[in-house]
Amino acid sequence: MTHRKIFVTTALPYANAPFHIGHMMEYIQADIWVRHQRMQGHEVHFVCADDAHGAPIMIAAEKAGKTPQAFVADIAAGRQQYLDGFHIGFDNWHSTDGPENHELAQDIYRALRKAGLITERSIEQFFDPVKNMFLPDRYIKGECPRCGAKDQYGDSCEVCGAVYSPTELKNPYSALTGATPVLKTSVHYFFQLSSQRCLDFLKDWTHTPGRLQPEVLNKISEWFAVDEHGHGGLADWDISRDAPYFGIRIPDTEDKYFYVWLDAPVGYLASLKNYFGKTGRDFDAFFADPAVEQIHFIGKDITYFHTLFWPAMLHFSGRKTPDHVNVHGFLQLSGEKMSKSRGTGLSPLKYLELGMNAEWLRYYLAAKLNGRVEDVDFNPEDFVARVNSDLIGKYVNIASRAAGFLNKRFEGRVLPVAELPAADAAIHDQIVAAQPALCRLFDEREYGKALRDIMALADVVNGYTDENKPWELAKKPEAAQRLHEVCSTLMRAFELLTRLLAAVLPDTAARAATFLNVRFDRSIGPSQVERIGEFKHLMQRVDTQQLDELLAPPPAPKVVPGGEDIAPEIKIDDFAKVDLRIAKIVNAEAVEGSDKLLRLTLDVGEGRTRNVFSGIKSAYKPEDLVGKLTVMVANLAPRKMKFGLSEGMVLAASHADEKAEPGIFVLEPGPGAQPGMRVR
Ligand code: MSP
Ligand code: ZN
Repeated sequence: MTHRKIFVTTALPYANAPFHIGHMMEYIQADIWVRHQRMQGHEVHFVCADDAHGAPIMIAAEKAGKTPQAFVADIAAGRQQYLDGFHIGFDNWHSTDGPENHELAQDIYRALRKAGLITERSIEQFFDPVKNMFLPDRYIKGECPRCGAKDQYGDSCEVCGAVYSPTELKNPYSALTGATPVLKTSVHYFFQLSSQRCLDFLKDWTHTPGRLQPEVLNKISEWFAVDEHGHGGLADWDISRDAPYFGIRIPDTEDKYFYVWLDAPVGYLASLKNYFGKTGRDFDAFFADPAVEQIHFIGKDITYFHTLFWPAMLHFSGRKTPDHVNVHGFLQLSGEKMSKSRGTGLSPLKYLELGMNAEWLRYYLAAKLNGRVEDVDFNPEDFVARVNSDLIGKYVNIASRAAGFLNKRFEGRVLPVAELPAADAAIHDQIVAAQPALCRLFDEREYGKALRDIMALADVVNGYTDENKPWELAKKPEAAQRLHEVCSTLMRAFELLTRLLAAVLPDTAARAATFLNVRFDRSIGPSQVERIGEFKHLMQRVDTQQLDELLAPPPAPKVVPGGEDIAPEIKIDDFAKVDLRIAKIVNAEAVEGSDKLLRLTLDVGEGRTRNVFSGIKSAYKPEDLVGKLTVMVANLAPRKMKFGLSEGMVLAASHADEKAEPGIFVLEPGPGAQPGMRVR
């Protein structure tokens, strides 16, 4: 067999939220494939990264009071527990904000420019005059131009389904500030996807036999199609965004950045380069090697980017293009689209925290996956049935039955195949004979079919058990030899089935390898066990209660956060005694000798500043506060403290125990408030 060198990626998740179960499905699909290829002896490099850039992340970071870099780093820090928990064996996890990506994206852009494929064009776009930034479509809302529904997004109406451009909205407003956006012109950079050169290349690239799935090709044909009025077909791609933007600066510009989708797929290469940097391998040499296969696993929603933009970017910058883009469908929960906002979903972290076995999910999803672009339905009853009947009932039980007798009666010795009667050896040989076809199924991502075939083999083994009834043989001293033969046959069958399942159940396979004293590093080959060690139970059944708990809706938020009771009633006059003012934080600094306090210099429009000590050091970096507006109690009696006089108090929200999550939050007024304004 030829030795393959394969570079495998999964889509880079947006760094604005933790993983959801759809991400895990994609990683499980790819991880199984990678493990399978490694068991064929191939060289595989499997990488991913956070997709760090773009306006939504910039805005989310600002809302969280963090720099985009810090915001993304916090999300990234939470990734490993999921990957370890579900046995996802990436070789590297990087970020599209890493230096490799800045460099590679700029190199690719320069090459595209040199190839004459970048043009500049002035476009008119909505601009938020308060925030001083161009608004992405998602951040413009208004009334639907067709049905008049209020508060619709800038690209489509959720009520009547109309699709339009943000400039068509009636009474548009900025979702960020509420301000009325104004139209403003700016120069944008475009990648000429509609050029004949690109079209010719892409028609050829997409139609290379075996490169893409048939459904994907169909979709692409629709994208290529031009109707009798000349409408449709590929359009040039707007690849620039104006500052402020969290992204990679476009070379030779002051204030233009790559649209996040330009640098995101470059992150595949950047992560590999970063990985090779750590292991001392030559990235350029690897990438120039025509034998290297580049394979991307993605979901169906991002097909356009991966089968048009990305190959064109690579090709016209003189690089190798992807060999396969493997597209999967969406994971749904009992037929419903997963929605984070509606709170329905299956939290991967909760799954792990409940002590549920990650391999149940790997097995279940694998059993439902195939090489086509089909949605996958997570159905709780089906999950319980599959795991308990297949994994436990058919597979794990083979080992638990045979191991006890082998250890108690035969010192763990397993008879060689050559010493087994023909009918017993035939069981072993039948499984070995099935290996090549099963390998092909895994290679084609037909995991569902592969697992059905493997379970059919397990059925054969279980039929053999029922026929030979080792528990009855064990009662007859004269049947000892037969008992040894039957249990040896079962143990060898278990070993072979484990080898077939190893890519799906890596943890179980590793534990089985220990007690069988074998290695599962190759898919193909006869059974090797000679003597087994102590048998420890391999896997529990699914407990339906755990599943109920997993899918239970999250508890409704408590009315009183942190359980702190509402204070006794007051009259409006009592409230009026408190003079609350908008204050501008003109300076903030740490207080020497205090690990709780920050020293704030506040402007409340009195023509002088005030000095206020505030116990918010655990939650804020001083530099992040400077320039912000907040609310202060302006008529609080000054208080002499160890560090100086405190002339007021800044308002902040926290739980009764402020060390408990989620910390302390300084109040901020809405946009437009001025220092000195009274809060009433
Ligand atoms: N950041 C982009 C990808 C850039 S790749 C250069 C992105 N991120 S994402 O976090 O929204 O999605 C990451 C992957 O998860 C995509 O392949 C997407 O299709 C997949 N999925 C998102 N929801 C999914 C399901 N419900 N089911 C299965 N996969 C899903 O897109
Ligand atoms: Zn509408």
